[in-house]
Amino acid sequence: MNSRRVSRQRISIGLDENVCTSSATWLNQILADIMVLRDLYKKCHWQVAGEMFYPLHLLFGKHNAEQVDLMDAVAERIQLLGGISIASAADVAEMTSIPPAPQAVEPVPDQLARLLGAHEIILLEVRTAAQLAAQSGDDGTNDLLVSQVIRTNELQVWFLAQHLVGVPREQADQTGTAQKSAGMRVVATSGRFATES
Ligand SMILES: [Fe+2]
Repeated sequence: MNSRRVSRQRISIGLDENVCTSSATWLNQILADIMVLRDLYKKCHWQVAGEMFYPLHLLFGKHNAEQVDLMDAVAERIQLLGGISIASAADVAEMTSIPPAPQAVEPVPDQLARLLGAHEIILLEVRTAAQLAAQSGDDGTNDLLVSQVIRTNELQVWFLAQHLVGVPREQADQTGTAQKSAGMRVVATSGRFATES
């Protein structure tokens, strides 16, 4: 995780300054990755094609809007804690842990794999940040991360993963390449595959 200098504007919320600074730093990392996932969803929303165009176009748009809501909640929590929310594309590109997507249009299985890989990266770091926030007494940050960020991302993963049930093995092989580049694991079994998160 990048360490980022945080300029504090103190308000009294009963939390130690070091706790606020630590939470804001974690939240900025999570914010960067949420903003990347938000844009990945828009890319897929625009570029999806094929027989599943309409339902996936709508699903990707819905998930994009939900990530926008998470982005706003996390950014405002950072400000509340006295930190400075990152906001520019340059800062996001510098900080994100999510591999960059190609400009080229990807087939649907690769779109799904890329999105699932990004979700897993976010969920792993959010679980760690939530535990640290709980241990340091920052219940507000813990609650935001658990009840909003984790639960929204887990639900989106479920909706995506159901589209991969029954995908033939040859497509699984192609998808595995994209998932590997997106930091995701694939489990192949008897001509079908499932994602393991
Ligand atoms: Fe649209």
